[in-house]
Amino acid sequence: MTPSEHLLTELQCLLDNLKQTGGLTNNSSININEHPANNNDLTILLDQLLTEANIHLSNTWAAHMTPAVSATSLLGQTIAGLHNGNLLSPQLYPILVQIEQKTISWLCQIFKQTNGHFVPSGSYANLDALWQAKQANSTHSNIVYTSTAAHYSIAKACQILDLELILIPCNEQGEISSEALLKACEVTQPLAIVATLGTTALGAIDPLSDCIAIAQRFNSWCHIDASWGGALCILPEYDHLFADLAGANSVCIDPHKALSQPKPSSVLLYQHEINKIDANVSYLEEKPLAHLPGSHGGENFLPLWFMLVSKGTKVLKEQLRYRLSQAQLFAHALDQLEGCTVYPTRTGIVGFDITPEKTIDTLINRGVFSRVQISGKTIYRAVFMNNHVSAEALIAELQAYL
Ligand SMILES: Cc1ncc(COP(=O)(O)O)c(C=O)c1O
Repeated sequence: MTPSEHLLTELQCLLDNLKQTGGLTNNSSININEHPANNNDLTILLDQLLTEANIHLSNTWAAHMTPAVSATSLLGQTIAGLHNGNLLSPQLYPILVQIEQKTISWLCQIFKQTNGHFVPSGSYANLDALWQAKQANSTHSNIVYTSTAAHYSIAKACQILDLELILIPCNEQGEISSEALLKACEVTQPLAIVATLGTTALGAIDPLSDCIAIAQRFNSWCHIDASWGGALCILPEYDHLFADLAGANSVCIDPHKALSQPKPSSVLLYQHEINKIDANVSYLEEKPLAHLPGSHGGENFLPLWFMLVSKGTKVLKEQLRYRLSQAQLFAHALDQLEGCTVYPTRTGIVGFDITPEKTIDTLINRGVFSRVQISGKTIYRAVFMNNHVSAEALIAELQAYL
């Protein structure tokens, strides 16, 4: 038996064992105990747990950026767990290193960057990007400009790094105002400008070329938070939107949102080389880089890599196009409803506002839509994250309340 067959057989045995009932007990709640739990209770609880996640498979799951995970990615995740290598000792895992590099190269080509590393989530990626900006700081400024619609992880990162965050207003579409950004830079040169490709609430795309050009003019770092909207870069028909990405110092994207991967999976890409950390790390053969990850293996990239190689990138593009077309159909159908204002975006989030205000709380509690506050106003939002979500099913849900 090969090592992989051996491990998978062990996994199968574990599952088979669970299925063997150990005698019924009346109590199906399971606590951590000195003795093993009853197999029957455990199976019931695991079934309940997985049933809870069925929400992601529904054709009306449009509340958040959480994807239903494909079996292929799940196999990649299992392989990562079975491997469990630590890339702080890369010399021990040449194959894992090679896969990581190939995945990073593929992403770098798309996002016009030269290097990168995986992190567990978009919040870590934004923190790491601003840390990189601080380490490379040639401006002596500690100011970061981003829009009022930027994700709150930018504010967290600034707090952690002791940077001053200044929020720049947005236009009606939720995009940063280039004019206001330029004026702010003229008043005080920033350490960094963070532009968002796909804002969390409405999916808006900041004027990337303007932000990059302004950052270059003031010798500041430009970070693009493409955690959500980065998926568009994979489609050649959107190339014109991202022509200047090579001018950004760093870009982050979350495969666990934009590319339907299981958590954790986020990647920070950049144009520079990262130095080795300045600390005593004698227990490792190689000094780690001065970036955020500590112990890490393939968990952040093997699911993505495995899906890409086993399905091909064509499938990913088709799925994305399908989701974007459903978003367009949904926005169009909302447009036909009386008293409905629609905020469609190119990244697959559709905001809408119904007057007189309807109470659709039940739909929110069922994960059909979510609610966001924009300029003090409540707006509903549908996130076209999943390949199962259909515009027709969402409209049918809404009709019941109109
Ligand atoms: C634009 C944007 N950036 C960053 C994040 C943070 O990502 P994570 O929740 O993976 O930390 C989010 C999350 O929704 C986001 O929408």
